[in-house]
Amino acid sequence: MGDRVYNFSAGPACLPESVIKQAQKDIWNIFDSGIGIMEHSHRNKYFDRVTHETEADCRAVGNIPDDYSIFWMQGGATSQCYMVPANFLASDRTADYFETGKWAQDSIKEVHHYGTVHIAGSSKDSGFNHIPKGDEVKYSENPAYVQFTSNNTIMGTEFKELPQTPGSSFLVADMSSNIYSRPIDVSKYGLIYAGAQKNLGPSGTTLLIAKTDIINNPVRELPKMMQYDLMAKKEGRYNTPNTFGVYLMGQVFKWILAEGGLTAMDEMNKDKAAVIYDFIDSQDFFTPHSVKEDRSLMNITFKCPTEELDALFIEQAEEQGLTTLAGHRSIGGMRASIYNAFPKEGCVKLVEFMKAFALEHAAAKA
Ligand SMILES: Cc1ncc(COP(=O)(O)O)c(C=O)c1O
Repeated sequence: MGDRVYNFSAGPACLPESVIKQAQKDIWNIFDSGIGIMEHSHRNKYFDRVTHETEADCRAVGNIPDDYSIFWMQGGATSQCYMVPANFLASDRTADYFETGKWAQDSIKEVHHYGTVHIAGSSKDSGFNHIPKGDEVKYSENPAYVQFTSNNTIMGTEFKELPQTPGSSFLVADMSSNIYSRPIDVSKYGLIYAGAQKNLGPSGTTLLIAKTDIINNPVRELPKMMQYDLMAKKEGRYNTPNTFGVYLMGQVFKWILAEGGLTAMDEMNKDKAAVIYDFIDSQDFFTPHSVKEDRSLMNITFKCPTEELDALFIEQAEEQGLTTLAGHRSIGGMRASIYNAFPKEGCVKLVEFMKAFALEHAAAKA
């Protein structure tokens, strides 16, 4: 670990150590060009190479079919909240959304600018502690598309099964906080978007993976910067992209491939999450936010018996080199974000600390 601590941040989040070390070199001089990655034109042969390698490695990691386009946009995942309905939802059509937390709600709020929203399922009434399923889900008759947030970063819940796609609809997923954490069948989706700052790289770059014939048929005329098809045709370089973000994402893809791809990520993520969840299940001092069957492998949310103890836990954990464990302000408590690059030793250390803390404060529960 050296001078670095265990960083449980929900995003921007910790990156693979080897990626940071490679980036240190490439910031100085990439491909022996005598120029660092952040100083190269986005139109020269060096950045052509970065773009093409990043795309090829992204395809290799996700086993992405040829009829899908890969490109990058700016404006964060939040901009996709309006980009999706702008491109796909005609004013006389309805789109179905799952309301499973704040990020889903942010998307839902933008739909009315373009068409009608239908809530196919919501877990709002239970504090977003689960993923709606069975009788809780009612799709509209023929939605333009069905959108869901595959992992709810704040709540710590995760879809284990894909929503349905009634009529001629297709799936849109905000995959910002669990993309490439496990194997994925991209052919099941119309569009996937993910802000990079959790599993893919630095903030300021959003990855888009889209079925090409879907984005080639936008439902209205849009300003150029809002046209998915233009962005895809220009390889995310219609204007000046976040060149460093695309470069670093490429390095993360290389790291995933070297580690054994998404099957290896999945095994590591299950193994790491089990360290913490097995402990949580074995005691009654800490209470988890999510119901067991929907809990996230990426963001583990839990509380102490009182808010005062939550604050003390976060403060004392920090002193032990376990940092950024505070839950999102909307739900409080604690959140341990353990994305692909987070090391298992950090999970073990956290559990050791949780055990000691629970023992010391057991009287508060009684
Ligand atoms: C699932 C999800 N969607 C969207 C966002 C918003 O991303 P950005 O800040 O890049 O706009 C986040 C941010 O953490 C997120 O976790």
